[in-house]
Amino acid sequence: GPKYPQVVVLFGATGDLSKRKLLPGLFHLVSAGFIPGCRIIGVSLDDIDADAFRAVARDALNQFLSRRMSEEDWSAFAQILDYVPLSAGAGALKEAVRRAEASLAGETRLMHYLSVPPAAALPAVRMLAEAGLTEHCRIIMEKPFGTDLASATVLNARLHEVFDEEQIFRIDHFLGKEAAQNILAFRFANGLFEPIWNRNFIDHVQIDVPETLGLGKRSGFYEATGAYRDMVVTHLFQILGFMAMEPPTSLEPAPISEEKNKVFRSMLPIDPKDVVRGQYAGYREEEGVDPISETETFIALKCQIDNWRWAGVPFYLRTGKRLAEGQRIISIAFREPPKSMFPAGSGVGAQGPDHLTFDLADASKMSLSFYGKRPGPGMRLDKLSMQFAMRDTDMLGEVLEAYERLILDAMRGDRTLFTTAEGIERLWQVSVPLIENPPPVRLYAPGSWGPKSIHQLIAPHAWRLPF
Ligand code: BG6
Repeated sequence: GPKYPQVVVLFGATGDLSKRKLLPGLFHLVSAGFIPGCRIIGVSLDDIDADAFRAVARDALNQFLSRRMSEEDWSAFAQILDYVPLSAGAGALKEAVRRAEASLAGETRLMHYLSVPPAAALPAVRMLAEAGLTEHCRIIMEKPFGTDLASATVLNARLHEVFDEEQIFRIDHFLGKEAAQNILAFRFANGLFEPIWNRNFIDHVQIDVPETLGLGKRSGFYEATGAYRDMVVTHLFQILGFMAMEPPTSLEPAPISEEKNKVFRSMLPIDPKDVVRGQYAGYREEEGVDPISETETFIALKCQIDNWRWAGVPFYLRTGKRLAEGQRIISIAFREPPKSMFPAGSGVGAQGPDHLTFDLADASKMSLSFYGKRPGPGMRLDKLSMQFAMRDTDMLGEVLEAYERLILDAMRGDRTLFTTAEGIERLWQVSVPLIENPPPVRLYAPGSWGPKSIHQLIAPHAWRLPF
């Protein structure tokens, strides 16, 4: 954990992410002793006082903590919570920060967390500047970082007027998932896989993150965001960066972002013809949604990384709300053998190509599927598989949730799993053709796998899900 006690200023403190992940995450980090002292100052539009904020936090912990919270743990946590409504202004925030610092022993560190939609990010930064709270601090920014290339460039420029890049931690919680970091271990800690990790052996890659979740209470955020900005330009592309990058010279932050950014630079602009946008039937009737909304709740697309390793290998990405299953997989399909001596009808190839699949579910799971002989006379083939699940080992110990892990890293100043201004601007740049010319949204039935045209998009291949 970090060396110094932390004062956390949490913008968007009463919002969905704060309730679901940030307050529970901070609670766990504090009560399990990862942080040597902490004060949390909630900030939001809600005109409430500190006691009312504590009540909000308590409800959130009761609902979203994975373990039970004891009365002592709660009262200890309640004492470190404070609240400043936005309407109270910069002066009140500064006061609250000074009070919090004074209540902690010795040297402290200041951490701002902007858990707010893109339009609210700059006003929050201005408030921090006005309060004189921008020096010797760190700031965690939530995605999406802007809504397109122009707004992301402005956001970064404004941020850089107030903060050094070193102070800014752009969080992408998918990179905090154990399984995402395991991609690096799997690729670079073994001699077996890296030699085949290229266009000579790999036919195509799928990054597939269907969700069963609907909007919940997030229609305000989601209507203005949609599946592409919410999931693809952030999480899915970052995972693609880990999958596709060259071996970094070391695991330090700079070499890793350098290699990821090279992948992003090699990506071809997203062609709207290679994109299926969908909206689940009934979305327009949800509370807070425009009855003629064109916001996509589903997106599937093909993208290409035009470099020596990957030229000609399509990467298919898919994600959406209210789909048939909740899954987060990366699946690598290998090329067919150059010649098949197995007779027609033996079953070879009948169940698709052989695959390596990573499951990004929190504990990490992998499987390798391949053809093998079925016992019995003749040569009949079937798809077999080898599986590894972290859950079945005794290695789990104290698992940190993705957010917990990343908040701790930021508090320690470790930027390895955070994204950079350059990488993000490049990802918006490859998005320009799609954002300027989005194909119309197609309806899909809740509980399905998306609009029918997803099959054309991936043909002659097939989606790996459902298993
Ligand atoms: C968030 C998106 O960043 O990621 C949500 O805003 C999405 O819409 C969530 O549901 C998925 O994260 P996870 O960790 O549950 O896979």
